[in-house]
Amino acid sequence: MHMNSERPAVTVLGLGMMGAALAGAFLAGGHPTTVWNRSAGRGDDLVAQGAVRAAAVGDAVAAGQVVVVCVRDYDAVREVLEPVRAALAGRVVVNLTSGTSQEARDLAGWAAGHGIGYLDGAIMMTPQGIGTSEAVILYGGEQELFDESRPVLERLGGGATYLGPDTGIPALYDVALLDIMWSTLNGFLHAAALVGTEKIPATAFVPFATGWLGGVASFLPPMAEQIDAGEYAAHDATLETHLSPLGHLIHESRIRGVDADAPGRTRAMVERAIDDGHAADGYARLIEQMRER
Ligand SMILES: NC(=O)c1ccc[n+]([C@@H]2O[C@H](COP(=O)([O-])OP(=O)(O)OC[C@H]3O[C@@H](n4cnc5c(N)ncnc54)[C@H](OP(=O)(O)O)[C@@H]3O)[C@@H](O)[C@H]2O)c1
Repeated sequence: MHMNSERPAVTVLGLGMMGAALAGAFLAGGHPTTVWNRSAGRGDDLVAQGAVRAAAVGDAVAAGQVVVVCVRDYDAVREVLEPVRAALAGRVVVNLTSGTSQEARDLAGWAAGHGIGYLDGAIMMTPQGIGTSEAVILYGGEQELFDESRPVLERLGGGATYLGPDTGIPALYDVALLDIMWSTLNGFLHAAALVGTEKIPATAFVPFATGWLGGVASFLPPMAEQIDAGEYAAHDATLETHLSPLGHLIHESRIRGVDADAPGRTRAMVERAIDDGHAADGYARLIEQMRER
């Protein structure tokens, strides 16, 4: 597969909020861009910016050397691609639809069986951030295919991040990063509920929260080294030391009528590690319990 020009023709299938943003970035990068959407009524702005609207998915596929798909889920991707599999042979499909690692690997297998180049990507950005330097998009698939497609993919902003040949890994990183997002957001909401019981506005508390998150982020690299080494000696605070402030958090939550389930679960994990003889270990020891589950 060789891109036959500096600005290869790109097709975008799916013009929801994300697909429209992707197509906009390709247009801004000067790529001949063809767009298609299942339902009519989407993409007028893109056509006004120079995109060609294809009436049928087959026409859209025929127009693009790189075919980007961004629809609701993998079932929808298969519904769109299956009828045009012959036309896709020899082209590169870049699937930026969210899904699981298994779905990504299965679809990669389907593509390989039909002579279709396949890269799977996970978008860690909102549509508004596409095309900016902050956009993070993670890719998996054959290295050669990625290298050839990179100049096109870089139009989406932020550099394109390659995670290796396994097409399932970007989806795994996606959920792992969302895991961090949801835990962090829940921590903030819980903290805001706590200080809110004293009529402290969330806006007054937020600078403390964001400053603290910077500090917490600095805990991660040494923790990661311990996780990889499977060695959890406490270098700052022991699990025993974590136990009493966790108790304070649970107490403050209960007396203020704020849900105490999440800190209760954390305390239960710390207690279990201590019962298992790890009182002098650091917090990273808890990963062993998460793995067991
Ligand atoms: N929005 C974000 O912030 C964001 C961030 C990261 C990743 N993503 C991922 O990007 C993908 C698209 O998200 P979105 O925000 O663009 O969603 P959206 O605005 O709801 O658009 C969904 C798109 O999927 C199409 N679609 C749904 N079922 C289909 C089917 N069976 N056949 C053909 N097309 C079908 C819709 O077409 P119709 O117009 O015909 O309904 C529409 O174009 C999702 O996998 C999402 O998880 C989104």
